[in-house]
Amino acid sequence: MKLRAVRGMNDILPDEIRRWHRVESAFRRVAELYGYEEVRTPLIEDTSLFVRQIGETTDVVEKEMYSFERHGDRLTVRPEGTAGAARAFVEHGTFAKEPITRWYYLGPMFRGERPAKGRYRQFFQCGCELYGDPGPVSDAEMIDLQVRFLRELGIRDVAVHVNSLGSGDTRARYREALLTHFSPRRDALSEDSQRRLEKNPLRILDSKDPRDHAAAEGAPTILDVLSEEDRAHFDGVKRALDALGITYVVDPKLVRGLDYYTRTLFELKATSADLGAQSTLSGGGRYDDMVEGLGGPKVPAIGFAMGIERLLVAMAEGEAPAKPKPIFIAVLTDAGLAPSLRLASALRARGALVEVDSRDARLKAKLRRADAVGARICVLAGESELERNVFAVKDLAAHAQDEIPVPGADQVLFDRWQSTEGAA
Ligand code: HAM
Repeated sequence: MKLRAVRGMNDILPDEIRRWHRVESAFRRVAELYGYEEVRTPLIEDTSLFVRQIGETTDVVEKEMYSFERHGDRLTVRPEGTAGAARAFVEHGTFAKEPITRWYYLGPMFRGERPAKGRYRQFFQCGCELYGDPGPVSDAEMIDLQVRFLRELGIRDVAVHVNSLGSGDTRARYREALLTHFSPRRDALSEDSQRRLEKNPLRILDSKDPRDHAAAEGAPTILDVLSEEDRAHFDGVKRALDALGITYVVDPKLVRGLDYYTRTLFELKATSADLGAQSTLSGGGRYDDMVEGLGGPKVPAIGFAMGIERLLVAMAEGEAPAKPKPIFIAVLTDAGLAPSLRLASALRARGALVEVDSRDARLKAKLRRADAVGARICVLAGESELERNVFAVKDLAAHAQDEIPVPGADQVLFDRWQSTEGAA
């Protein structure tokens, strides 16, 4: 039987990896510009962490988590990074050491969704979480960070959607307003939404089912019921976005699929990339109650995460840096092996890339390989040269050949390599 990768989980081969590195290094650079530091938390957490924080009636928890039992513990492979980061923030008492904490992370997440372009079962996120600042300026700065990062990747056609879910009382009032709207329409709702109606009517607004879309026509929006404080906070976010020169759309229908959000919500959508329904590059918002819910003090928080696969689709092709070219050493006789390995070792110690071809193959095959890896310098360690204590060196670009003495060959070759490759 031929084994294949699990459906919805992708191999990333070296051909593609340079574009990944480009995204990852741009993300680190931009996140660090705003004062974020990397955190790495485990891929596996207690199932209850996700059930409680993401919410029992969300799609992620109800249908998508990879959960299992081991040694008597109920565990889940993380579907997202926010809950684990907050768990670590509380567990290590970070709140007691500094008033504001900025963390970023990069890594795989796992959700058993129906695979499609831009939607996978193992996917990678890069994200930021900020603890300790109730905003609203920090909310706008977090959106600014995302826009800057996307611009660094050459992704400019992006729509920034913002909304506020309010806090405490506002959400309770909104729940009532939604119940009043949907209860008479109950029979028209999808099965999921009928089930969720009492517990979590907000989820109906986030449903992908067309029946729910029809029933949601004319539903009250959260902006109709925002409290004065929540409205002032949201106004503050908008003012700061204006000051930063960021164009945005207020989208009262934006609710997002995770239960932990309070107040500010946002999504950044690609407007031109060919991502179909998966055009949301980034999503996030405030979750001011999570730290307390995990047994910490009342510390406000806000964050976002982006799907790296989607960024790669939205990025223009050809954004990857060129692959560096090695010095190629063709070993042509047994006697040539030791001096070749010594030369390779000395060159690598200087920082040159080296490929040693010690295959039992003809010169022609080795030159073909040198060509294929794009080498310009090709060292030939053959019998007649080594008897005279020299290497023959071909310049494959200039179609020239000379000889250099074995002693000091690493210096000469390194200089040649650097003047072509290293300088690039
Ligand atoms: P999310 O909206 O579930 O939020 O995911 C954020 C982003 O991850 C999405 O916008 C999308 O780009 C990518 N993504 C999600 N699911 C998939 C998938 N199945 N395949 C490919 N890409 C996917 C969160 O995860 C929150 N933790 C964000 C956050 C951080 N909120 C506060 N802090």
